[in-house]
Amino acid sequence: MKEAEKAKKTSSQKKPVATKKAKKLVVFYSRTGITRKVANAIASALECELEELIDKTNRQGVKGYLAGGRDALKKSLTEIEAIKKNITDYEMIIIGTPVWAGMPAPAVRTFLSQNKDKIKKVAFFCTMGGSGNQKTIDELNKILGTQASQATATATALTVLTREVVKDLHIDKVKEFARQLMS
Ligand SMILES: Cc1cc2nc3c(=O)[nH]c(=O)nc-3n(C[C@H](O)[C@H](O)[C@H](O)COP(=O)(O)O)c2cc1C
Repeated sequence: MKEAEKAKKTSSQKKPVATKKAKKLVVFYSRTGITRKVANAIASALECELEELIDKTNRQGVKGYLAGGRDALKKSLTEIEAIKKNITDYEMIIIGTPVWAGMPAPAVRTFLSQNKDKIKKVAFFCTMGGSGNQKTIDELNKILGTQASQATATATALTVLTREVVKDLHIDKVKEFARQLMS
């Protein structure tokens, strides 16, 4: 083998240089874009990455709404698309869900059930029309179990109302939330 070829082969076989570990990841589910808007604002305030959960069950329309509420209430799991990020690469996962019948959306419940052992530290945020946020946050803590009870000793939770997000009134709350997470 010629020297140039050899050199090329050796360099392409080199392991990639390890990149600096990212610290925080925002993971969220959104049916109609409200929680996505808050998730984007949080990720931008924290300068961190995002992962959107995709529920393989069709949640659109009246049928999707009703079935979604029922599934959330029954604490049912759903099928979600495989996530792209490696959860263990992150020191903190910031999880966002819309409130569905006073519960987290099934996609978020599924993500937490599948990844709870990989999550080191956690914070939560939810969006809602008017009520059920505390019950939802309590349930998120419950799903995470013991691991998270250590993590949530310091966890912060943010609630934003749908109408606040529509009018872009969530930004100050998001900034304060991000400030707490960075301190
Ligand atoms: C199935 C379903 C159940 C809901 N249940 C509640 C509820 O119990 N309390 C509440 O305040 N809002 C409830 N909502 C309203 C959503 O929480 C709210 O509109 C949220 O901001 C939507 O976020 P998204 O656009 O990210 O999906 C419900 C919405 C859906 C689709």
